[in-house]
Amino acid sequence: MLIRAILFGLAWVLLSALQCYTQAWKPGVKDYNYTQIADAAALRRGTLNYTDATGANLTAYVSYSNTSSQPRPAVIVVPDYDGIGNYERWRADLLASLGYVGFVADIYNNSVAQGPALPEANRFAAMAIYNGNLTLLHSRLLGALATVRKHPQVQADRVAAIGYCFGGAAVIEFARLWPNTPGLQGVASFHGSPLVRNSSTFKPGTNVSVAIFNGYDDSGAGVSAKAKAEVQAELEGANATWSFTDYSHTAHAFTLPSNPLWTSGPAPQSAYSPWADRQSWWALRSFLLTVFDLGNLTNPYTSAGGVTYDYNSPFIGSAPATS
Ligand SMILES: *[C@@H]1O[C@H](CO)[C@@H](O)[C@H](O)[C@H]1NC(C)=O
Ligand SMILES: *[C@@H]1O[C@H](CO)[C@@H](O)[C@H](O)[C@H]1NC(C)=O
Ligand SMILES: *[C@@H]1O[C@H](CO)[C@@H](O)[C@H](O)[C@H]1NC(C)=O
Ligand SMILES: *[C@@H]1O[C@H](CO)[C@@H](O)[C@H](O)[C@H]1NC(C)=O
Ligand SMILES: *[C@@H]1O[C@H](CO)[C@@H](O)[C@H](O)[C@H]1NC(C)=O
Ligand SMILES: *[C@@H]1O[C@H](CO)[C@@H](O)[C@H](O)[C@H]1NC(C)=O
Ligand SMILES: *[C@@H]1O[C@H](CO)[C@@H](O)[C@H](O)[C@H]1NC(C)=O
Ligand SMILES: *[C@@H]1O[C@H](CO)[C@@H](O)[C@H](O)[C@H]1NC(C)=O
Ligand SMILES: *[C@@H]1O[C@H](CO)[C@@H](O)[C@H](O)[C@H]1NC(C)=O
Ligand SMILES: *[C@@H]1O[C@H](CO)[C@@H](O)[C@H](O)[C@H]1NC(C)=O
Repeated sequence: MLIRAILFGLAWVLLSALQCYTQAWKPGVKDYNYTQIADAAALRRGTLNYTDATGANLTAYVSYSNTSSQPRPAVIVVPDYDGIGNYERWRADLLASLGYVGFVADIYNNSVAQGPALPEANRFAAMAIYNGNLTLLHSRLLGALATVRKHPQVQADRVAAIGYCFGGAAVIEFARLWPNTPGLQGVASFHGSPLVRNSSTFKPGTNVSVAIFNGYDDSGAGVSAKAKAEVQAELEGANATWSFTDYSHTAHAFTLPSNPLWTSGPAPQSAYSPWADRQSWWALRSFLLTVFDLGNLTNPYTSAGGVTYDYNSPFIGSAPATS
């Protein structure tokens, strides 16, 4: 019986790891060329060392526009299973170009080589540590929140978090920590998996908005029909403000331009979906305007606080940078 349970547990860890396995990086294509951000010259990018309650040494990537010196809302980006790579830096730079502070949280710790430097097998093992120890994951998330709120460019009461795959599941878990999440207004999950946890649920009255963007054809166990129904029931039961979007013809890891396209045949395990990527990014932009209560929501093009939000973005109409 015990052996059965252990085998089951191992199978789950393997399966959930596989869900986040997004096809091997093509030889020679390491990651995103995030220097191709259109207004990169206006961004201040750098790293920030911090610790969490466990005392781990962590290094975040921080990006914000230097076209204003005023504090502004911040968006924490929780990486996928390979930790902080150029993909996450690129997303933070995109957020910075929209007027936010982009803060890529370090979940693994800075003694771990992250991004392309983290070997495939170690990615599964690293992710499993945090999926298998929610206390540790919580500590990392709250450490990032406390750190970003202290940043001089940040409005401490306007923080959101987004995440991809492992990180997408982590930000859903982040919202489950309410009311111990000061300043956290919303979380958005992109192909997050698993959607539900065994030992953690949303608290009644949850006042963190939750947006979940999912591929309808994602076959992962963590996003099964049962898991989807459960997370929605859990959110509804907590009276949270939430949305759950399924994108058609969309598999796992649909926001990663380095994934192959799904053009024909049965759904692959992972695929880039330009349509779902763009739709979900637009949805994120309006979600952020809403949860941060920015400007005039009847007119999404207004600016607030001297910082222009969502206005005249150089990314409108341009393809994500890949190399
Ligand atoms: C990344 O893009 C920049 C700007 O277009 C270019 O100068 C640089 O050579 C590119 N780097 C790689 C590794 O492709
Ligand atoms: C941040 O931590 C890294 C890794 O320990 C270290 O190499 C770097 O010097 C630190 N940066 C600062 C500004 O302390
Ligand atoms: C840093 O990560 C490595 C690899 O996951 C782990 O062995 C080590 O215990 C971690 N250190 C801390 C302080 O979390
Ligand atoms: C964090 O880094 C400091 C300075 O390098 C080191 O003394 C300390 O042992 C590290 N802590 C952990 C938990 O790794
Ligand atoms: C922003 O940084 C760029 C590149 O360093 C510089 O040319 C520009 O003058 C800076 N703008 C402000 C407002 O600091
Ligand atoms: C989970 O992580 C916490 C914080 O690092 C640690 O104190 C605890 O021992 C870990 N639990 C297990 C079961 O490893
Ligand atoms: C919860 O527990 C069940 C039964 O042990 C297991 O199948 C499932 O994978 C677990 N889910 C998570 C998210 O840990
Ligand atoms: C929920 O959060 C919003 C934004 O911070 C705040 O205005 C509102 O008062 C909160 N509602 C409750 C019931 O705490
Ligand atoms: C649910 O939340 C709404 C605000 O979003 C509030 O008006 C309502 O009173 C809440 N209901 C319960 C039962 O807490
Ligand atoms: C909000 O935008 C609408 C439509 O553009 C406009 O009629 C209204 O006056 C605006 N309200 C404020 C407070 O700016």
